Amino acid sequence: MSRVAGRHVVLGVSGGIACYKSCVVARRLTEAGAEVEAVLTAAAAEFVGPVTFEALTGRAAITSLWQPGRALDHVRLGREAELIVVAPATAHLLARVALGLADDFLTALLLARRAPLLMCPAMNDQMYAHPETQSNLALLRSRGVHLLGPVTGPLARGEGAGPGRMVEPEEIVAHAERLLRTAAPWQGRRALVTAGPTRERLDPVRVLTNRSSGRMGYALARDAWLRGAEVTLVSGPTTLEPPPGVEMVRVESTAEMAAAVAEALPLADLLLMAAAPADYRPGAPLQEKARRADGALKLDLEPTRDILAESLPKRKKGAVVVGFALETGDPVASAQVKLKAKQLDLVIANDATERGAGPEVLTNRVTVVGKGGAEALPLMSKEEVAEAILDRVQELLSKRG
Ligand code: CTP
Repeated sequence: MSRVAGRHVVLGVSGGIACYKSCVVARRLTEAGAEVEAVLTAAAAEFVGPVTFEALTGRAAITSLWQPGRALDHVRLGREAELIVVAPATAHLLARVALGLADDFLTALLLARRAPLLMCPAMNDQMYAHPETQSNLALLRSRGVHLLGPVTGPLARGEGAGPGRMVEPEEIVAHAERLLRTAAPWQGRRALVTAGPTRERLDPVRVLTNRSSGRMGYALARDAWLRGAEVTLVSGPTTLEPPPGVEMVRVESTAEMAAAVAEALPLADLLLMAAAPADYRPGAPLQEKARRADGALKLDLEPTRDILAESLPKRKKGAVVVGFALETGDPVASAQVKLKAKQLDLVIANDATERGAGPEVLTNRVTVVGKGGAEALPLMSKEEVAEAILDRVQELLSKRG
């Protein structure tokens, strides 16, 4: 979120029931440190009052072109805003913007804007499906407006569910953050990230797995997407919410993860292998449930496929490859061995026995091992660790051009 701090964001609100969620957008952006200026259409102010936005953002909300003292504010804001987010964008507002009308503060500001514009349509499903709305959306998209949603879900009470529901505030804020990264350095690049544990079947009810939570991989996927990359996240079973914008591929076993990675691999400019795939699987899974009454159960385990090693001959030329090594003993020495053996650019090593690091916790202390040596990072949240790792990846990518 640090990239949002101090940035000047206009939150435009038009009049639909999804207005109540715009308050959360205002709240989250302000919490992240953005300077948020809310601009309400007259209809929006019928749904949620300007005082609500003032209390959330700390700035008076703008509701009219005719407020004394604000004669040229639409032009000022059009020049100064670094990003304009319109949520919700009603069918009527989309139509006015598509036509280039400037009959209230929000539309006048949009006509005077220089900043990127993110619009989050929200309306009744019939209004959304209408050809007029669809052609307005197509026109706006062709002019470079970023459209996010709508999604399918419950609409206003009594209207059932359908396409037309505004995307959730968290997703809007994540897209806003991505657009605020002025350089978006990874635009046009593809990242392939693995995350979480895998599970190998012992019998129809039991599995062999490990303690990986997937948090590190999800944080990497999110940060790579925020830097502008197209991200495929191949994830074993986790309880985490998918990060916004990423393509999720859910898998169960190491063999399934290997197959999903093989498919995305040829196009990947970046390979971030944060998963902890099960290294062993039962040689012959039982077809029937094993019963305690039958006495001790002996497991005959065979090694699974090494996804990272298998990827070697199929990697895109110049791809940056990052492996992870969760170790006991000397993590840095093991990481150095893996760096060479699997031809990696970086290995992120950590000690499985250290408190506050490794699986099942929110923090991590890692050492980044590269060809030039090892760099120990302090204990940080996994999101901060992800950012630090990708800063190093960024350096490698820029050297490769
Ligand atoms: N990895 C993989 N396929 C596996 C196991 C691991 O691709 N079947 C990846 C992990 O995602 C990680 C790296 O390889 O990025 C190192 O994982 P690790 O289990 O520490 O390495 P191994 O090579 O399996 O070595 P070890 O004998 O130490 O387990």
